[in-house]
Amino acid sequence: MALQEMPKVGLGLWKIAKEDCAQTVYDAIVAGYRHLDGACDYGNEKEVGEGIAKAINDGVVSREELWVTSKLWNTFHAPEHVQLAVEKSLEDLGLDYLDLYLIHFPIAQKFVPIETRYPPEWFFDPTADEPKMELAKVPLYQTWHAMEALVEKGLVKHIGVCNYNSALLHDLMTYANVKPFALQIESHPYNTQEKLIATAKNYGLSVTAFSPLGALSYLELDMASANESVLEQAVVKAAAERVNKTPAQVVLRWNIQRGCSIIPKSTKLSRLKENLALFDFALNDSEMDAIAALNADKRFNDPGDFCQAAFNTLHPIYD
Ligand code: A2P
Repeated sequence: MALQEMPKVGLGLWKIAKEDCAQTVYDAIVAGYRHLDGACDYGNEKEVGEGIAKAINDGVVSREELWVTSKLWNTFHAPEHVQLAVEKSLEDLGLDYLDLYLIHFPIAQKFVPIETRYPPEWFFDPTADEPKMELAKVPLYQTWHAMEALVEKGLVKHIGVCNYNSALLHDLMTYANVKPFALQIESHPYNTQEKLIATAKNYGLSVTAFSPLGALSYLELDMASANESVLEQAVVKAAAERVNKTPAQVVLRWNIQRGCSIIPKSTKLSRLKENLALFDFALNDSEMDAIAALNADKRFNDPGDFCQAAFNTLHPIYD
């Protein structure tokens, strides 16, 4: 039987290069990871599938012991394209069901056929003289109803959303026939998102924090600088010393302890193990509060910034 609960720590697959991906996934499963968080847009689902297949073939794990998440890309929002998209992800992953399928962004872009380009990414036509994002007129409720059909067909066990704000969640709850299982959002001590998380929990959603180490995720993309690292904060270092763990483990544990799942990415075996070893210590109330007080509503992953900077298109979704 498929897993009923999403394991608290998953391996985030964003930015894992194809050439490292199968081995990283395999190593992570051997190290004890049972939750993999991927997406069409990460461009590595075939390699993720290779890592999973090797782990299953070697007898490390069974399919049913794994929780595999993927995400519907923006260009597949139209109801007639949603099943196409999940079937492509399933084929690449070598699986016959996903545990969780999420709407990646509340942004509907014009359809790009799989044969034309995959993953389609942000530009409608990257070869155009001035490439831009092009939007499709598809309301989110239509996409959601097509996601619901995937559950009915047994292609996915659960469905959910990413990068929604509270207003979109309230709206979703007015029309959802299949209740959203999870909300995935950027969250770390510089962006604690307390109100949004409380809203999601009030509706019974599970909340997953992406980029749980904050700026670290964005250094390799030149979207943050090293001096923005939360691991350098005195309160984090002091807690790390008290519990005899690394600053990264303290920051990750903080998110778990306040009730979120986390999906840190690493391609280094020692860090993969470090990021999973979060359950033999606890932060005390004053440490939890002091880390939460670092909040600066700092968003590193904001379409309002990167769509303009990298994709020549103004498209804010948060104000
Ligand atoms: P690396 O893969 O070299 O370990 P994300 O926020 O997208 O999950 O990415 C996390 C970033 O932080 C990655 O760049 C990863 O790099 C790095 N990282 C992951 N785990 C740790 C850790 N325990 N300590 C320091 N850096 C880490």
